[in-house]
Amino acid sequence: MGAITSARELISSARRIATFSGAGLSAESGIPTFRDALTGHWARYDPAELASPEGFARNPELIIEWYNDRRRTLASSTPNAAHQAMADRTGLLHVTQNVDHLLERAGAEQVLHLHGRIDSDRCHRSCGYSESIDISDPPGLRPCPQCGAQLRPAVVWFGEPLPEEVWNSSVEAVEAADLLIVIGTSGVVFPAAGLIDQARRGSAAVIVVNAEPIRTISDITIIGSAAEIVPQLLSA
Ligand code: OAD
Repeated sequence: MGAITSARELISSARRIATFSGAGLSAESGIPTFRDALTGHWARYDPAELASPEGFARNPELIIEWYNDRRRTLASSTPNAAHQAMADRTGLLHVTQNVDHLLERAGAEQVLHLHGRIDSDRCHRSCGYSESIDISDPPGLRPCPQCGAQLRPAVVWFGEPLPEEVWNSSVEAVEAADLLIVIGTSGVVFPAAGLIDQARRGSAAVIVVNAEPIRTISDITIIGSAAEIVPQLLSA
């Protein structure tokens, strides 16, 4: 029996399904991933250099421009068939490392963003101020109107803590799930990637859909494109 058929069987007999996704889910919407070669003029920078408090302290204008570049790309992107299939299958709880809102744009209701969202800015001093921004015409570097510190994208940078509330809800979700579908992630960034082991410790079955094999134990691994495979797994 093919892997798709076996995966569909697991999905139809599961009571509570969670998904765990990474940049590979949005790749076919034109959003560059992290560890595949960085496209364009950002190729000469290391993403960890850019997505970090040190990088922001060193050159805030460069960091804001890098994020604004990504925001403009996202503004002209649309959900792909994988986002749509995940949104259309009611009852799924989505835990994502992605900072785009393409699952929400596809109509998904329960999405937990472990690494925040790129369509908001927040106070870098964490005074509590945050605001949504227009990703098609994002603002430049500017002070927090509440406390005067700098505003920065409301995303989690290397070395920064994950939002506690979101982390706790994500742990609960994967522990309660009897099936975790892992989509488009290299699974190398922790603590996020630790949720896969957490799900298995909670006796969930694990299905992996990814363009290349990843280092995790799974019941079924399907190598290929998310936009092609995920709809085959989730369609009624
Ligand atoms: P990565 O770039 O590390 O991994 C993307 C994975 O998706 C790779 O394994 C690719 O092979 C796979 N992939 C690429 N295109 C695909 C497609 N069309 N269909 C299916 N799979 C595809 O991105 P993440 O795993 O999301 O964190 O990276 C995790 C975190 O590291 C990100 O959230 C970000 C980054 O630094 C922070 O910024 C804190």
